[in-house]
Amino acid sequence: MEDEEGEDKSQEGLNKASKGGLIYCDYLHLDKILNAQELQSEKKGNKIHDEHLFIVTHQAYELWFKQILWELDSVRVIFQNGRVRDERNMLKVVARMHRISMILKLLVEQFSVLETMTALDFFDFRDYLSPASGFQSLQFRLLENKIGVPQSLRVPYNRRHYRDNFKGHENELLLKSEQEPTLLQLVEAWLERTPGLEPEGFNFWGKFEVNVLKSLQEELAMVQAKQESEEKEDLLAELQKQKEILISLFDEKRHEHLLSKGRLCSHLEKDNLITKISVREEPRFQVPFQLLSSLMDIDILMTKWRYNHVCLVHRMIGSKAGTGGSSGYQYLRSTVSDRYKVFVDLFNLSTFLVPRHWIPKMNPTIHKFLYTAEYCDSSYFSSDDSD
Ligand code: HEM
Repeated sequence: MEDEEGEDKSQEGLNKASKGGLIYCDYLHLDKILNAQELQSEKKGNKIHDEHLFIVTHQAYELWFKQILWELDSVRVIFQNGRVRDERNMLKVVARMHRISMILKLLVEQFSVLETMTALDFFDFRDYLSPASGFQSLQFRLLENKIGVPQSLRVPYNRRHYRDNFKGHENELLLKSEQEPTLLQLVEAWLERTPGLEPEGFNFWGKFEVNVLKSLQEELAMVQAKQESEEKEDLLAELQKQKEILISLFDEKRHEHLLSKGRLCSHLEKDNLITKISVREEPRFQVPFQLLSSLMDIDILMTKWRYNHVCLVHRMIGSKAGTGGSSGYQYLRSTVSDRYKVFVDLFNLSTFLVPRHWIPKMNPTIHKFLYTAEYCDSSYFSSDDSD
């Protein structure tokens, strides 16, 4: 690119690296990373081309797992230190959770690169890596534990506990991650604490109950006024079902009963959650709503990861046993289920959503209260900014 005087502007500048100091490969320790691809097939005197892709793919996954854990740990610290009442920190939490879901999206897609390897190509070097297996990925287990995969719902591995596969320090780290507060528990505690629409104030929940019961009655009257027909019968049955579910929201005993039949909102504070979701357009609830959405994204993406992985495994080894010793495809298929979803209550919440016009309208005083609530909170003024 020449300017009017005919000088090449693109070549202007100073080569700083020639003066010494930190350079690219040292900063990134590329000597370690780029020399960490040791092909077992080559070591055994039978170099198989695709083993390089297999190793690099796993390493890339592990690096991204590391970044996810980095973000997740920082978010957990913000929650643990009670700094989420400061809206600025809440924005940080939401941004980091969003970053985690973007990484997971990449990881879900990344299997397609490994899928360019054929089952026969894999077969050529598979025996060399046995008994190594992704099952022994410490970071993957830490991730599951820190998010909050319930230990009691884990699928046993050859009838044994997953941790039995880890020794020494790794075993200790896993045990610790099982005992520390999980993201799920921290979010639960945050939900309980956030100022909302308490009964003594606007009493959102009380108004919501009145509106729901009234609207259900109106709907029922409208359907009953119709002429007798099969359609009317269907509508009545549907309305009855909807009524049973919605009424259970306001009646602990009924809710418990529905809970025992399936998994309705169990862990998370249902009234608090429904309030936040119903009034999500209120400025005060927009950030919490984004957080709840990103938690669902993470659950969905982890499920997609498991699904894409099991599809890859099926394609590569059919129903042969895994190198780690499990039944392989059968074992992995049993992990692609709601048992491993952590925020399942958030999904079930949609069962309770009602038409927008059933939701109590906010009045100007409440708008103001919601806006200023955080600012009146003493912890807002803490100089304790999170990193
Ligand atoms: C050709 C490709 C792959 C095959 C055939 C394969 C096969 C398997 C099998 C059979 C298992 C069950 C445990 C066992 O018996 O070994 C497993 C578990 C696992 N693999 Fe893979 N895998 C492949 C690629 C990957 C990649 C790229 C990753 C990325 C890190 C990965 C991560 C994992 C993890 C984390 C588990 C544990 C899952 C759980 O227990 O829920 N795998 N894999």
